[in-house]
Amino acid sequence: MNFRQVDIMKVNVTDKDVIVFAIKRVDTNNSYEFERELLQTIEKNQDKRLILDCSEMNYISSAGLRVLLKIKKNQGQMVLENVSKDVYEVLSVTGFTQIMTVKRKLSEISIDNAELLGAGANGRVYRLDQERIVKVFNSTSNPPEKISREQESARQAFIHGIPSAIPFEIVRVGDELGMIYELITARTLGSMVHSDPKKLEKYAIEMSALMKKLHSTKMDEGTMPDARLALRLWADIASKSDFYSRDDMQRIYELIDSVPVRETFIHGDFHPGNIMVSEGELILIDMGDASVGHPVIDLLGTYQLMSLAPKKNAGAAMRYLGMTAEESVRMWDVFIRDYLGTEDENIITKTEESLKSLSLIRTLGGIVFSDVIPDDKRRFYSAMAMKDILDNIEKTDYIINAL
Ligand SMILES: Nc1ncnc2c1ncn2[C@@H]1O[C@H](COP(=O)(O)OP(=O)(O)O)[C@@H](O)[C@H]1O
Ligand SMILES: [Mg+2]
Repeated sequence: MNFRQVDIMKVNVTDKDVIVFAIKRVDTNNSYEFERELLQTIEKNQDKRLILDCSEMNYISSAGLRVLLKIKKNQGQMVLENVSKDVYEVLSVTGFTQIMTVKRKLSEISIDNAELLGAGANGRVYRLDQERIVKVFNSTSNPPEKISREQESARQAFIHGIPSAIPFEIVRVGDELGMIYELITARTLGSMVHSDPKKLEKYAIEMSALMKKLHSTKMDEGTMPDARLALRLWADIASKSDFYSRDDMQRIYELIDSVPVRETFIHGDFHPGNIMVSEGELILIDMGDASVGHPVIDLLGTYQLMSLAPKKNAGAAMRYLGMTAEESVRMWDVFIRDYLGTEDENIITKTEESLKSLSLIRTLGGIVFSDVIPDDKRRFYSAMAMKDILDNIEKTDYIINAL
């Protein structure tokens, strides 16, 4: 990076971008210099994307807007960032937000006195007021693009009629980023089942209805990532370790590629800890892993979390799902029968065998960095997981073709 003063505006050049820090006020008095400096900067950095950082700008007149228009025509890739509320309003009423990329300045909020409502692998959730919560993301595993993706997926889910919380704006919470959502006054499905196990069957069937609703929702191409990407990321983590042979990993990638493309909405983390029960209605939260693809990709995760993992590690179900391992396995059993619309033991057994290889891809990666597995056991567990996958790999087609 190098900062230098070009007349009135500061410029910062990085590998890909040239960032110009816009002045406080652009009007007829300085629009000429504003234009000249922007043009000079573009001239010197022709291969870079132009970012106009508007953190300091609180006013722009029509003369300033005309400059933006000219620059935009000249330089297709201009992006306006950190735009204040007032400037955004001008850009919006004039239609500029539709012809150029305009990103707002994030509001800052405080959670000092806010009640903690829940937590997951990605963040903590606090109540802001009667209507809204803020999900504060752990910054290490949640770069800004991932948070924007969660916001877009939550919006897509909502407008496609999937019962879910309205996503509002992305905000700054101290050094971290957060996203404001509608508050769902409810408890998670896992904790509801745990406190009233008589309702387990009823809830399992409702959970299946929710997944069926999801899987009958078609998305437009390109609106969300390809569902196989999440599996490839786990495989990439596994590949980087020295626990698995190159040939075995090759077979894993082929297995992932064998899952056909579909335009179905995939939640990607569908389990009773990510479903809330609000006045009897099931509401899906946590769209951080939502994508588009074949329904088997949702099913394999649900099977892994509700059945495979709790059978191996009883504590995990309570931690992630808010229910005991026994409740979780029983709930999966009722759920999968309803989802497939069959009571035929043979079909259920074949389905579970068929889900196994795909389900264990996450485990391959998980073993590499899990902090619960002692180092001297890692190699043993990884070999077991890989064997389990390879022994069952030929059975995967059954469920893919059935869905
Ligand atoms: N819109 C909401 N209203 C009320 N509680 C919520 C809402 N969203 C999340 N929570 C609570 O916060 C927990 C974690 O949120 P979640 O989005 O699942 O985070 P993560 O991505 O870390 O798993 C949930 O299990 C739930 O208890
Ligand atoms: Mg969650």
